[in-house]
Amino acid sequence: MPVPLPSKTPVADSIGVFDSGLGGLSVLRALHRQLPQAPLRYLADSANAPYGDRSEAFIGERSQRIAQHLLVQGAKLLVVACNTATAAAVASLRERWPALPIVGVEPGLKPAAAATRNGRVGVLATTGTLRSEKFRQLLARQGDAVQITAQPCPGLVDLIERGALDTPELRAMVERCCAPLREAGVDTVVLGCTHYPFVQHLIAAAMGPQVQIIDTADAVARHAAQLWQASGAAHVTDDRAGDAVRLETTGDVAALRRVAASWLTFRCEVNGSDA
Ligand code: DGL
Repeated sequence: MPVPLPSKTPVADSIGVFDSGLGGLSVLRALHRQLPQAPLRYLADSANAPYGDRSEAFIGERSQRIAQHLLVQGAKLLVVACNTATAAAVASLRERWPALPIVGVEPGLKPAAAATRNGRVGVLATTGTLRSEKFRQLLARQGDAVQITAQPCPGLVDLIERGALDTPELRAMVERCCAPLREAGVDTVVLGCTHYPFVQHLIAAAMGPQVQIIDTADAVARHAAQLWQASGAAHVTDDRAGDAVRLETTGDVAALRRVAASWLTFRCEVNGSDA
């Protein structure tokens, strides 16, 4: 049932961003590049990550709860920085808050189809994203002009969530995920999960130098920035220069603090969350 937005919140307006865990930080950093002064709030649902093998009902429930949490904290624009949560929940979020601008993410098949030279594209994503109705529709929109090989990567998000980005275990997992794409002869690989840009160096090494990698984080951030600038809330950015970006996690606060310090180049304040 549609719910009106709180008309006046006692907290400052902000852009709320969430993911199952750390992956959405790849979207957050792109958003920070676009809007360095915007008040950004990020929630990592690391206590419940990965979402990739969860039911749509579970992801839907978590997404509703997290969105509500971010709204109470003043979010006037919501970025669902997770392909799996977008596939499972963005429609129900839009139904519940029809007045709230909501940006989702989906595997970049369209830019990949434009970029491929040999007509063969690989998609790396979670099982949940690849089996979703949304992905089926996305594939159908591409038609037959391009041959798409979709490769689920169960376990990859768990390893990235541990925070170390160059372990032998991670290399072996990336190699296993990329092998079928190499066999299919793809020349373009879509990163269909927001965690994967953090292991792009390993994917590039496994695929070889002639293979292009498509990450839509910058395009998503540009779209979100346009919506933010068009919204009445953007005025708050003027006096926000230098404020830390606020990160929250339902998981281990110290782990997120470590990751933020090594993966992000801007100042963050990290807290726990009971969302
Ligand atoms: N970053 C999420 C995505 O883009 C990962 C999902 C998961 O937790 O498995 O799909």
